[in-house]
Amino acid sequence: MAGLFISFEGIDGVGKSTQADLLETWLQSQGKTVVRTLEPGGTEVGIEIRKILLHHRGDLTPRAEAALFAADRAHHVASKIRPALERGEVVITDRYFDSSVAYQGAGRELSQTEVRDLSLWAVGGLLPDLTVLLDLPADVARNRRNGSGTEPDRLESEKIEFFERARQAYLDLAKAEPNRFLVIDAAASVDVMQEQIVNRVTGLI
Ligand code: TYD
Repeated sequence: MAGLFISFEGIDGVGKSTQADLLETWLQSQGKTVVRTLEPGGTEVGIEIRKILLHHRGDLTPRAEAALFAADRAHHVASKIRPALERGEVVITDRYFDSSVAYQGAGRELSQTEVRDLSLWAVGGLLPDLTVLLDLPADVARNRRNGSGTEPDRLESEKIEFFERARQAYLDLAKAEPNRFLVIDAAASVDVMQEQIVNRVTGLI
């Protein structure tokens, strides 16, 4: 496929959207057409699925949750991401399947391999060219998130151990695929992080 596919990952509160915004602006300044998107909720049907995932008040079992994230992702890839890549564009997504491996696999304590396989089946095996992992200890990320002033959603309300497991899973994923991942210490300043990301992306465009 001709385009470039970049995902941003990390636990809630690490500053993914700020860095994704900055990278989008930089790529546009280099003359690239960028499709900026997110999961869950990058499509119309995805917005409906997102409402259930983030705001449903009653019980939602772990496998049902994993399947809903996978459904959102399947539709997102088929209707938005693949077409953009086929047009030769750059796709930047705020979260992709590593989120499911970290949150549903490790966080919810489902099998990480099964969750990964489910997601990869959903997207026909499409992997990002680059995954930027913003890393922070779970308690630091939580304090930052709490400082944002917005009410925590269904997942953000999970206990700190959930996010500690998710963080560790992300680090393990990055270690297993060092060529796909760029791990950034999210305690650094916004500018320092952006420079590291731009340096890496420069080698890909
Ligand atoms: P996000 O849109 O990053 O949150 P916000 O808009 O509140 O910053 O993601 C929503 C939540 O969904 C977040 O807590 C992470 C979680 N999530 C999963 O548990 N599994 C997944 O596969 C994805 C994509 C997100």
